[in-house]
Parts: sequence; C-alpha cells; structure tokens
Amino acid sequence: MTVALYNHLTQKDAGVESGFDHRHSGLDSGVHRNLSSNNQLQQERHNDEEPPKNNHQLTNNVHIMGIDIDSKLIERARKSNPFPDLITFHTADVMLDSDRKNIVQTYLADHDLKKFDLVTCFSVTLWIHLHHGDEGLGNFLKFVCEISHNLLIEPQPYKCYKTAARRMKRADCEPFPHFETLSWRQNVDDKIIQFIQDDCDMQLIEIFGSTKWDRKLCLFKSHSEGPASDTEHTELNSSQLGTQEYWKEAYERELQGFSENGDIGEVWFGFDSMERVIHWIENCDSVTHESSILDIGCGNGVMLTELAKLGYQNLTGIDYVQKAIDLARCISQKEGSDEQIRFEVTDILEDPMDSYSFHKHDVCLDKGTYDAISLSPESPKEKRLRYQRNVYKLMTNGGLFIITSCNWTEAELTAHFEAESFRLLEKIPSPSFQFGGQVGNRETSVIFTKD
Ligand SMILES: C[S@@+](CC[C@H](N)C(=O)[O-])C[C@H]1O[C@@H](n2cnc3c(N)ncnc32)[C@H](O)[C@@H]1O
Repeated sequence: MTVALYNHLTQKDAGVESGFDHRHSGLDSGVHRNLSSNNQLQQERHNDEEPPKNNHQLTNNVHIMGIDIDSKLIERARKSNPFPDLITFHTADVMLDSDRKNIVQTYLADHDLKKFDLVTCFSVTLWIHLHHGDEGLGNFLKFVCEISHNLLIEPQPYKCYKTAARRMKRADCEPFPHFETLSWRQNVDDKIIQFIQDDCDMQLIEIFGSTKWDRKLCLFKSHSEGPASDTEHTELNSSQLGTQEYWKEAYERELQGFSENGDIGEVWFGFDSMERVIHWIENCDSVTHESSILDIGCGNGVMLTELAKLGYQNLTGIDYVQKAIDLARCISQKEGSDEQIRFEVTDILEDPMDSYSFHKHDVCLDKGTYDAISLSPESPKEKRLRYQRNVYKLMTNGGLFIITSCNWTEAELTAHFEAESFRLLEKIPSPSFQFGGQVGNRETSVIFTKD
C-alpha cells in the first residue's frame, strides 16, 4: 500500500509550526475503519491480522511519501522520521509540472504504481486557492484525484481565508494575490466537495464530522469508470481467443487428440499455475472437501479433476463449448473423478438464473476465461461487466473468487472487480506469460471475496 501526504503549508503563511512529522500516521480510527472496508487497506489488515496500533507498528508493506513546499519543514520531518525506509519526505511544489513529474510521478513509477492507495491533504486547499486562484485550485484537485485511489481531504471553510488574510495584513506582508478575485467564497468547502465529485471522477464515501479546527474531513474513492482511472479503461486488443468459434475449433482438435492418443490438451498458463491455485485452496481454512466449487470456463476440466483427486467432492465445471465439456467428461472419467464433478454447457455471460441450474458456490475459479472474454472483438467492456455481475450472483456470501489472468494486472483486476462489490483478499504471486498476442504481462492469481 502506498500513501502520499500533501502539505502545502509554509510557516509564514500558516503561522503554525506543524510539519509532516506530526501527521504521517494521521488517520484517526474512524477513517481507518472506513478505508479498511472498501479497499486495499483491508488487505493490509487481513495480512497483518492485527491493525497497526501506533506508529511503531507500521507494516513493511506501507510506503509513504510526504510532500511540502517548505524545505525547512521537510528537513525537520526527515530528522524525526522513525521509518526512513518506508516514509520519505520531499520538498515539492505540487503546482509545478516539473515537481509533479520529477518527484510525484517518479515516486509512483519507482513503486510500480500509477496511483497512491491513499492521498491525504490536510490544511492545503486554502493555500493553493489563495496563491493560485480558482483555476489553480481546480487544477490541484484534479491532479490529486488523478493520482489517488482514495483521497482524504480537509477543505478549509471561508472563515479561515479571512483569518489568513487578516494575519498577512497584520504582519505587514503582501496580500494574497487572488484573495479579492476568488469566485468560490461562501461555502467554499462544500464547493470543493462538489467539484471533486462532479469534475474529478471521485465518489464521496464519508464526511467524518469536523476536526478540532472545525473543518470537515472528507473521504473520496475513485469511481471505477472515470477518465482519471488508469486501470479500468484500457480494453485489450481484440483477438480470436475472444470468440466462441476459436474455442469450438480448439476443443474439436483437442477432443480428437484425446481420443487418438490420450492427450489432455492445453492446460492454460501451465501446471505450475494450476498447482499454485490448488495449493492455496488446500491451505485455506474456509474451504473444505464439501465446499461447492465452480470452475468458470473449465475447458478440459483438469483443475477440477485434480481437486477431485485431492478429495474435493462438490465440483462443477461450466464452459460454453460443448466439445470442451465432452473432453472434460472424458478426462475426468479416465481419471476416475467423474462422480465428484458435474460438467455443464453454460455461457457465463447469460443470466445464470435463466441458463444454469442456479445455486451459489463457495468458491468460483477462473483461469483464462475472463482474459478470453476481455479479448472479445465485440463489446468487450459490456461483456466484462456482465461477467463480473454474474459471477457475483453465483458466489455465496463470504465465498471466494480466485481468478488467474495474464492479461490484466493485479491493480486492474482489483479495479474491475471491486467496482462490482468484490473485495480483494490477496494475490498469489506468479511469473510472466504470453496470451492472445499480449506479451510481457505477468500472470496473476488474485482472490476476491463477497461480503
Ligand atoms: C483460456 S481457456 C481456459 C480454460 C481452462 N480454464 C484452463 O485453465 O485450462 C478459456 C476458456 O473459457 C471458455 N469461455 C470463454 N468464454 C466463455 C463464456 N462466455 N462462458 C463460458 N465459458 C467461456 C472457453 O471456452 C475456454 O475453455
């Protein structure tokens, strides 16, 4: 998990002396609870079992970047930094393109990310607004939203602007360049909240009352479908593998190969990949030999045959190609596993209520099927969405969805499925592979649950 903290205070402007050193763990428990219920932070808690109780228990998986325009504050924060490996402080002006690129984007690239899991902005909007005007504030808000999966922001109300302007006058300083011409004045904090929702593609999750300075603390989450999202919009280049014709021909050949020489055909992403998933299932306390397990787009059904050999008894495989199901039945019969497995011809994109003797499953498996659907030459996005919704319907509450993909990264899968109310549990690490003409993507197995 990666967190960015923005502070745009200068001691002169703010008349205060606080820097990031006081704030690097600045999530109060209410905030932490809410975040934990809807994103990757949950995974951190899950993995760590005990949520961090104080700064001194910061998990190694958390990387935090703190930014301030004031180099003195940054220097001080660095000196008192208890976790220099995990928290780094940088002097940067987030209104400068060069600093955005050289400091913020470079940090993200170094962590192999396009967005931070959480960006916090405390006591920032007023200073940006007063120094850069309405346009500058809008530009700043868009930028922070573009780089945030979650944004925790404390927009200052207009009375703080008046106080700041009075202080400048009393200190005989130059007045703020934009103070007189700002169009957002009364209810500026509400306008900021509205702007973030209307123009920055974020969803307001909660307003956590007021801070002790009588300022709102607002949590936003990136919408699944917005232009700012880097993970959810790019569709894959379509391929033959996204068509039913391709799979019909493929399984016709494979069925022939099996009847001629007993060849089981292609095991997608190889045996290692399958074994990693099976190993995870075997070690999962909530999956028993009686659990209902559904393999979506089961192909030759080898994953289920292997599970049956290990003692799992309530297994179902569906595929939209009759010859795949024929092959799967032949293989499971030959392996003596056919009693534990029910194979059915079903298109997962049909409404499962209509087309499939509907019941819910404790575990839904997918190895390469979502990938294949995503490669469809026609309406891939609609199909992906239909897939997500149908799988969700087929899962029991608390059930697991284990998906192995080589075309989508963990971040992309998370964005796709969390948008449809799945919750990420964890990832099974896996090596790179090649599929459907897409080269260089890592094969990833990710586990989601349904709350
Ligand atoms: C890459 S293969 C993976 C097969 C198997 N899961 C494996 O790991 O060996 C993709 C499978 O998805 C199936 N498939 C694609 N779209 C489907 C759909 N809409 N409904 C059911 N199965 C589908 C294909 O027929 C094919 O068997």
